Amino acid sequence: MERLPTVAELRAAGKCLPPEAVIAIDGPAGSGKSTTARALARRLGLAYVDSGAMYRALTHAALAVGCDPGDGAALARLLAAADLQLRPGERETAVVWNGRDVSQAIRTPEVDAAVSAVSAQAAVRERMVERQRQLGRQGGVVMEGRDIGSVVFPLANAKLYLDASLAARAERRWKQYRERGETIAREIVQRDLAARDQLDSNRRESPLTISPDALVIDTSDFNQEQQIEAAVLASRTNAWLDARTDWDTARAWRTLSAKYRLVYHVLTPLRRLLGQRVVGRRAPTVPPGVILASNHVSWFDPPLVGGTFRRGPVRSLAKRELFAIPLLGALLRWLDTIPINRRGYDAEAFAAARAALERGDNLFIFPEGTRRPVGRPGPIKGGLGILALETGAPILPIFVRGTCALMWGGNPASPLEVRYGPLVRLHALPRLRQDFDRKEITRRIGSLFLAIIEELQVRSYLERPETDLERRLRLDQQRVQRRKQPFG
Ligand code: DC
Repeated sequence: MERLPTVAELRAAGKCLPPEAVIAIDGPAGSGKSTTARALARRLGLAYVDSGAMYRALTHAALAVGCDPGDGAALARLLAAADLQLRPGERETAVVWNGRDVSQAIRTPEVDAAVSAVSAQAAVRERMVERQRQLGRQGGVVMEGRDIGSVVFPLANAKLYLDASLAARAERRWKQYRERGETIAREIVQRDLAARDQLDSNRRESPLTISPDALVIDTSDFNQEQQIEAAVLASRTNAWLDARTDWDTARAWRTLSAKYRLVYHVLTPLRRLLGQRVVGRRAPTVPPGVILASNHVSWFDPPLVGGTFRRGPVRSLAKRELFAIPLLGALLRWLDTIPINRRGYDAEAFAAARAALERGDNLFIFPEGTRRPVGRPGPIKGGLGILALETGAPILPIFVRGTCALMWGGNPASPLEVRYGPLVRLHALPRLRQDFDRKEITRRIGSLFLAIIEELQVRSYLERPETDLERRLRLDQQRVQRRKQPFG
């Protein structure tokens, strides 16, 4: 087997995790997250953050003042008034609540028993997630928890999901208690763990889930060293795969047939004239055989997003009705667009799209299936998930912004932007296939896409704040949604 390059080699070649990298580690209690995250952080020179310790600190404080662990509003007040600090240490993250080190006090059976209820509160999660993101924005971190890959950092450079059998996890937890001098029966530890798994996985707000792009590691039969070694390898996988992916701009350009070059030459001056920015580490090169998935703002998206791609052939899907419009229909056929019947499942269109991806063509789609003027993506249709699930093709998420202004008032100062995300590889598909049906996996792929687009949008807005027009359109859209779902 080919030898995997070391982190030092990858870094020297500029192909490794950048210093601002984020590694997300999720998994159930006792799966070995803390040991692994701490060791990884040390090896890769990143900070270590135990997000569970934040929920534990709040639980400990709530128990001390007699606050109900199910009262979200009271807990949120308690958190807002407190000074909560995490200090990474040799063995555990030191947790300081209002100046007092509570690192030991938060790891008792009492806190264990109440922490799931506290962490299920939406008001609590919202504030914790914000603090966790701030920690991530300060620089490279390895963060462990339950929703780090799926919610806190959807664009993490590497996502690891650690798992282990209930018996193995209970044994480890029981030993930890014993080392700290707590006496508790092993059976009780196992029963409590099973109950927490149940609560953490079934709560409404950010439940414990396997993000479809996570690398799943079962640690049941691993000792500590093996577990850490597996995690180090996994954390390098995306960087390693990226290094072997064809991002060559010159070669990509040569793949463009005469007609795509013509389209490119027509659209490029137009994009320049409109001041369109193209953002992304490797933009506008795209590798072959990927699903180019963009949010959908206006009719201008297909030419203004599609016009940035520099690798052919790019196939796209368009609703069948558009082919009946005289000039547009001819243009779509000329561009080899695949017609899709949007009522029900169009087996023929999906087969054509699958065949294109399997040949190494790229497929350009709008997973929402409809336009939403402010770019905040709405519910995702099943198509993206079905295609990704059936072909295993990676997804290149794309955030488009500002094309609404071309339609609604044409404000030339409005930021026109196409922002490429990183290539998303669905490493967890084999595991998800074991646990869930097609519909659920498809839904999860859609949620991941949504979370990524939202994060790309946040980054875009941090660089160029929301314009008045975007704000107005967003508020209008929210009003329409509220009218449609008054109780939603
Ligand atoms: O990892 P831990 O056992 O210290 O986590 C304590 C609890 O906090 C656990 O029941 C789930 C919750 N938690 C969470 O909901 N989200 C996180 N990101 C981390 C922990």
